[in-house]
Amino acid sequence: MGQIIAIVSQKGGVGKTSTAVNLGACLSAMKKRVLLVGMDPQCGLARCFGLDDTGAGIGLLESIRDGVAVSEVIYPSHARLPRLDIIPANVRTMTEEGQYIGSMDREINLLSRVLERVKPDYDYIFLDCPPRLNNPTQAALVAADSYLVPIQCEYASMATVGRVLRAALEVRRLHNARLGIFGFLITMADKRAAFTVKVVQEIRLYLKDRVFRTIIPRDPKLAEIPNRREPVIAYDLQSPGARAYVQLAREILAADSGRVT
Ligand SMILES: Nc1ncnc2c1ncn2[C@@H]1O[C@H](COP(=O)(O)OP(=O)(O)OP(=O)(O)O)[C@@H](O)[C@H]1O
Ligand SMILES: [Mg+2]
Repeated sequence: MGQIIAIVSQKGGVGKTSTAVNLGACLSAMKKRVLLVGMDPQCGLARCFGLDDTGAGIGLLESIRDGVAVSEVIYPSHARLPRLDIIPANVRTMTEEGQYIGSMDREINLLSRVLERVKPDYDYIFLDCPPRLNNPTQAALVAADSYLVPIQCEYASMATVGRVLRAALEVRRLHNARLGIFGFLITMADKRAAFTVKVVQEIRLYLKDRVFRTIIPRDPKLAEIPNRREPVIAYDLQSPGARAYVQLAREILAADSGRVT
């Protein structure tokens, strides 16, 4: 049975979508079956695989609004990553965004029920949330077994984490008692910046062993993904960004198999 992990932060541009795409790709390259779900109406996730232009037709919107079987909205992600599948949000207009959010508003457990059917088919299901703690994020936390918070390595980053933690605690209390912490991931770390060491220390001081040991560096190669339309391991396996996500996948697999590396 797979685990469902919501990738959340109300702060925009911290690496949620990049982490879903690249961590998902690395885990699938390591023989795990992975499903990525685009929760963000902006559909950034699908764009990273070139899915928007192919006229995917139907996606998460149709599944939650119209009851289309979830198996019909799952797409292959990449020819070289056969174990990596994707569900695009497929929200194209303002009206559709209203329907998408409205459906989740009416029934907070709707996404859980949709994903329950595919849970046995995957080892990891990552939910790429929008940069808001609104209904799609809330529905993701209700459906999830745990959540992963990317933290951009900069001053005052801890302030944004507090809000995510409070939102997750509330969901845990009201809707989903099994919701746990998957981990906090330091992203976009600039080795040359003087403050980096201090910020990393501060994050580790507060969040302790919940912070992944792997740190994702700032790497222009990672920023090419929306343009290249494939995960970084497909076009530059030796780049610092690719190596970091490979290392993160190994760290997760080691932790999940109960070993301490
Ligand atoms: N480690 C990195 N180094 C350099 N650029 C990165 C890195 N991670 C992500 N980026 C780039 O930074 C931008 C924001 O990243 P991403 O889209 O993953 O963040 P997000 O949290 O999903 O954003 P949003 O909240 O808008 O959905 C993107 O242009 C992405 O390509
Ligand atoms: Mg995003």
